[in-house]
Amino acid sequence: MIKKIAIANQKGGVSKTTTTHALGAGLGIKGYKVLLIDLDPQANLTDNADIDNYNNNTIYEVMKGDIKADEAIRETKYFDIIPSNLNLASADLEFAKTGKEYILKETLVEIEKNYDFIILDTPPALGILTVNAFTYVDDIIIPTNASIFASSGIMQLFNSIETVKKYCNPNVKIDGILFTKFNKRTIIASEIKELTEIISKEIKTKVYKAQIRNSVMVEEAQANRIDIYSYDEKNNVSKDYMIFIDEYLSGLGKEKINV
Ligand SMILES: Nc1ncnc2c1ncn2[C@@H]1O[C@H](COP(=O)(O)OP(=O)(O)O)[C@@H](O)[C@H]1O
Ligand SMILES: [Mg+2]
Repeated sequence: MIKKIAIANQKGGVSKTTTTHALGAGLGIKGYKVLLIDLDPQANLTDNADIDNYNNNTIYEVMKGDIKADEAIRETKYFDIIPSNLNLASADLEFAKTGKEYILKETLVEIEKNYDFIILDTPPALGILTVNAFTYVDDIIIPTNASIFASSGIMQLFNSIETVKKYCNPNVKIDGILFTKFNKRTIIASEIKELTEIISKEIKTKVYKAQIRNSVMVEEAQANRIDIYSYDEKNNVSKDYMIFIDEYLSGLGKEKINV
């Protein structure tokens, strides 16, 4: 059975793109068939995965109906990816017809059978692209920096998801909140415990036990345009993301594939 996931938070710089890439590569390493979709006009995921996006076979042309989804798919070592480019920035104006929330759902249906996981990186906004992602997926994972959580507009994000759930996709749910760029020295355990209690009460979702630590390795791997595991699998962040993936998979009740 295929699982569709959106990595979302309207705040920028909270590790959405890093988490999408790490989740995709990690699941690929474990033997799953993964498709990543870059839905951010800034195309950071496309860049980080070292995909050129100049030949016009991107998610923008797919959403416009100019090409089929399979024509936009590029293969990499651990996952397939549909890249983005800056043209997507006009989506809110261009995709304004009735049914605009369902464009992804309709255009991706034919390729779903080829994958175990389809994971969407979303832009730092709650516009039509993010709404398309929420309309399409089963699970939403919200990365956030623990130290900015309180001021991060999480209730606005939650309300937007609730609206999509009501009108466009009754199956969508927040799977959990992932604390990223975690620095034990600045965040104390009691604060995290308090935050976790507030979240589970008000948003009715879990905070993952796994937390992603802070390391300059992440920027180094991105500058070299390779995934974190290939760059430095022994780094804390690589280990943390693998622990997170195991936690996510055990939530799905999936058996690990041995490859
Ligand atoms: N665990 C981490 N440790 C250190 N730097 C990180 C970590 N995760 C992400 N970063 C850096 O933080 C910045 C924002 O991350 P990114 O994944 O692009 O966030 P978003 O997609 O939410 O805007 C990037 O420069 C990235 O290299
Ligand atoms: Mg990003």
